[in-house]
Amino acid sequence: MSEARPSMAWSPDSWRSCTVAQIPDYGNSVRSTAVMEALAQLPPLVTSWEVEALREQIALAQAGTAFILQGGDCAETFADCNSAAIVTKLKILLQMSVAIISGIKLPVVRIGRIAGQYAKPRSADMEVRDGVSLPSYRGDIINHNAFTADDREPDPELMLRAYERSALTLNFIRALIDGGFADLHHPENWDLDWVSHSPLADEYHRMVQTVADGLDFFESLTGKSIDQARRVDFYTAHEGLHLPYEQAQTRFLGHRQKWYDLTTHFPWIGARTSQPGSAHIEFFRGVSNPVGVKIGADMTPDWLRSLLHSLNPDNEPGRLTLIHRFGAARIRSLLPPLIEMVKKEGARVLWVCDPMHGNTETASNGLKTRRFENILDELASAFAVHRDCGTWLGGVHLELTGEHVTECTGGARGLTDADLRRDYRSQVDPRLNYEQAMEVAMRIAQHGNKREKR
Ligand code: PEP
Ligand code: CO
Repeated sequence: MSEARPSMAWSPDSWRSCTVAQIPDYGNSVRSTAVMEALAQLPPLVTSWEVEALREQIALAQAGTAFILQGGDCAETFADCNSAAIVTKLKILLQMSVAIISGIKLPVVRIGRIAGQYAKPRSADMEVRDGVSLPSYRGDIINHNAFTADDREPDPELMLRAYERSALTLNFIRALIDGGFADLHHPENWDLDWVSHSPLADEYHRMVQTVADGLDFFESLTGKSIDQARRVDFYTAHEGLHLPYEQAQTRFLGHRQKWYDLTTHFPWIGARTSQPGSAHIEFFRGVSNPVGVKIGADMTPDWLRSLLHSLNPDNEPGRLTLIHRFGAARIRSLLPPLIEMVKKEGARVLWVCDPMHGNTETASNGLKTRRFENILDELASAFAVHRDCGTWLGGVHLELTGEHVTECTGGARGLTDADLRRDYRSQVDPRLNYEQAMEVAMRIAQHGNKREKR
């Protein structure tokens, strides 16, 4: 890696002198300044100890000795900050992780798109309905989804509401995990309805048994309990889109002599805001969290090279994750040149596949959907391309829910376009329902079984 460093001095607000895309400009309004001051006073949502622990886990995944499972809603909503929705999201990620562990026989690091996934990039600034044009809905942290001029007006107070919902969500997740809910010895805690009705149930139970047997075997052999299995780690992530919010919770920690964005463990930069020199790249180059960047079909090797240098000039392990999302039809041609460039640079990155965002389409009835077969296909291609290039696909990034929604077609129940309206709830992108999500986890386990030992 070269020594080239951006010349501009970094500060938590240096992004303001760059090109800012996808977020409202509150200007210097009295209200937005007051909200940012309030957020800066409130305690951080996560700690640097947790952030550093995740960075180490990501470094292990880079090295091929762990696997990252990142998943959750496309957009969290304030209304979904309730016990049932949070428990269900946790359960599906825990179940999926057991299925993956049983196949790949490596630790799985669970990262939720949760406790802060409230800001959305949009392809159009305005939405037109019946000849009326209003600003697009950009997530609950920015404006409201209802189609009125008042609701669509960006409101800085919503940053405080998002902070509070994130804190409530995190508090509940931490209590569940500390209390033993996530103990791998008791996977029955995570049973969802589907297990009793699904064609995949037998396979899932077999996988759970494999993991339980492995734990028992180790414990009887050593006479010790695997404490780590009693308290699995769970981390949070969201798209670091709404920079005023991220900035307000960014602190310089004297004991580490570094800046941290303490709204989340793992922020990522979306595909629409990662242009070289953009405000989002400027902001995230200065914080010490591990960061992800989405890599879409328009990414070029030169552009990616510039991101490697801006975001990880010292080539630190665990710092940078590249989340590729090309679509099933294009991954085989678009991914290899990027991998080759990264190899040539000697850059340390974690490769993660997002098989969702390159496969979005409009169904015959006008609803946004994704075909399950395309999602599986992109995932299979991702494993194959990395194997051929000699790199390790160290994780997946999914939009999913533990509920029985009908947003993506296909899967074990063969959902068609005609089924979509039955239970379509997402306000933004279509998510895998719990059964489709488990099927993806089982496929990952199969790919893991085939992987060459490293
Ligand atoms: C997302 O993850 O919801 C998203 C908008 O992704 P991308 O930036 O890859 O389009
Ligand atoms: Co999405």
